[in-house]
Amino acid sequence: MFIVETVAGIHELITAWRQQGERIVFVPTMGNLHEGHLSLIREAVRLGNRTVVSIYINPTQFGENEDIGTYPRTFDEDSDKLEQMGVDLLFAPTNEEIYPEGSDRVKRIEVPELSAILCGVTRPHFFSGVATVVNRLFDMVQPDLAIFGEKDFQQLLVVKHMVADLKLPVEVLGMPTVREHDGLAMSSRNSYLAVDERKKAPCIYQALCIARDSILAGENDWSAIEAAGSQAIQAGGLTPDYFNIRRASDLMSPEVDEKSLVILAAAWLGKARLIDNISLTR
Ligand code: PAJ
Repeated sequence: MFIVETVAGIHELITAWRQQGERIVFVPTMGNLHEGHLSLIREAVRLGNRTVVSIYINPTQFGENEDIGTYPRTFDEDSDKLEQMGVDLLFAPTNEEIYPEGSDRVKRIEVPELSAILCGVTRPHFFSGVATVVNRLFDMVQPDLAIFGEKDFQQLLVVKHMVADLKLPVEVLGMPTVREHDGLAMSSRNSYLAVDERKKAPCIYQALCIARDSILAGENDWSAIEAAGSQAIQAGGLTPDYFNIRRASDLMSPEVDEKSLVILAAAWLGKARLIDNISLTR
């Protein structure tokens, strides 16, 4: 496996592969790889001739009071896992490579509307930071296909909309959420949880499942289901941020007869802010 830190280095390899007509599949990450990440990477290895994974903790998607300083960094373990999986190239750039102008002077890519709702309310710079870095990484890696997790459902839609808005020549694939045995969605931020908090954390997924089952049983009073979901999360000892039922295609409020829905939730627990979602078709 090649480990490359510079744009010039990656350009050389990618150019050669493209000239040989190789299909390049790309999985961007912030590292601290767990089974959720690895499921995307396994699929990338299966679908591509060349698999590229990036590990880059992107400063433009963190707010001033957020956890960029404490975000878990496990580069050597990550690199071993990627090598064993048959990844061709690990791209681990510095801030200077991604943002030569300085990360606070970047012209940000905006994906309006979608970026301002749900997680965008408490994290106003998050999705423009994601769109900006993913756009730069796509430009460097030039993938045919890029794979993202449905765990971050709003992020996946923001990336799809950015690709469509800018007419980028890349296909975007979403993969199902990988969970712990008790239903908690795997996340690097789960390591912030103390033992007693970890026991409470699955209540987000449980509340989502209850909401899904009531919709599938015919309930369509969205605000009543949302209120019950928030209450269940609060009763489980977490502080809910939002619990919303949305149209899966664009995260806008659904009509009563909408067929394709997603239920999204976010809540604080100790030092962690946890997010999760379930999609359903009626
Ligand atoms: P990160 O949180 O490291 O996640 C990298 C990819 O793994 C994302 O597409 C995310 O949705 C996916 N992922 C995380 N947990 C998952 C799980 N339990 N099941 C399935 N997929 C999961 O998301 C980011 O990094 C960054 O915002 C990034 C896209 C790299 C831009 O900086």
